Amino acid sequence: MRYLFELSKEHNTLPTSEVISCLKAGKIKFETIVSNEDVLIVETNSGNDEIKRLTDRLSFTFYIDEFLFSSSPSIEEIKEKANKICISRNGSIAVKYKNRSEAINSQAVVKILAEVFSKNRTVILNHPDIEIRCFITDTGIYVGIKIGEINRSRFEERKVQHRPFFSPISLHPKLARALVNLSGIRKNETLLDPFCGTGGILLEAGLIGVNIVGSDVENRMIEGCRKTLDFYKIKNYDLFCSDISEIKNHIKNVDAVVTDLPYGKSTTTKGENIDSLYLRSFEDISNILKDNGKAVIGLANKKSVSIGEKYFTLVEIHGFKVHKSLTRYFAVYEKQ
Ligand SMILES: C[S@@+](CC[C@H](N)C(=O)[O-])C[C@H]1O[C@@H](n2cnc3c(N)ncnc32)[C@H](O)[C@@H]1O
Repeated sequence: MRYLFELSKEHNTLPTSEVISCLKAGKIKFETIVSNEDVLIVETNSGNDEIKRLTDRLSFTFYIDEFLFSSSPSIEEIKEKANKICISRNGSIAVKYKNRSEAINSQAVVKILAEVFSKNRTVILNHPDIEIRCFITDTGIYVGIKIGEINRSRFEERKVQHRPFFSPISLHPKLARALVNLSGIRKNETLLDPFCGTGGILLEAGLIGVNIVGSDVENRMIEGCRKTLDFYKIKNYDLFCSDISEIKNHIKNVDAVVTDLPYGKSTTTKGENIDSLYLRSFEDISNILKDNGKAVIGLANKKSVSIGEKYFTLVEIHGFKVHKSLTRYFAVYEKQ
């Protein structure tokens, strides 16, 4: 079976990497068929139930569909390919679309798909048994049957200004969730954020059933983080106040570390030079991470990536504009 992930395109590399990490975390064997900024299409022996579960984890994907076909922006080609598809499932049908391109008239595409797929079926626009999705992009027209939608509004609702403890240092929840996903962490495994601040990363990990451990040098952050986790009824957490170099006294052998290091502006480094703090942080993180575990680390600048390479193997790096004037680099490392 082939599955189509309709990517949010809010970033050029992160959405694809997030899906791939979640497939691997779900132990789903797959082969990539198409990968570009709009979509990821994979082939797998896993079924709809397993793939649909990813809707609870992903943040940079809109929909997951059973893939039917792709086409160039030509009505003749779309009609020909649609006519070759036989949908064995019974039930009512609707055709929905998302248009990201000017290459073809979307109404004409929907009309032809509706004509082909509604033969001998009832059309019901709200909650049909079968929802045909048509994703019109500059990289191609992708057609599938929806199996799941990612509820992205929940990430907006969890923005730090809506939580019981506020500080502007917190990342957007959908970015925090994607970073958790990049670590490949599984339910019931343990994830540590040793610079937890308001707890934005811990919250996203806790919500997908991961055991979470957080620490921060500032006690007021730990207390604020606790309020947030309690507000969202997160149960399996442990928090303590500690400088990064002391955490080895509290915990060892964690499955993943996901953290956003201080970057010296609004987030305090207590006067310490960034390079020196980063160097000891990487060393301490490498001491408490299990072998083959992933560390996903937010860094102030690109040159700091190499500091981490003294202790880890670099897997990938994503530059992300957090504010208009601030780009953060999120590096994924693996401990060998
Ligand atoms: C960029 S913020 C983390 C923001 C966090 N991801 C959130 O969602 O709020 C960095 C945090 O590192 C903490 N910090 C700074 N120096 C530290 C140190 N030496 N050891 C541990 N934590 C430290 C700061 O108090 C701050 O809360």
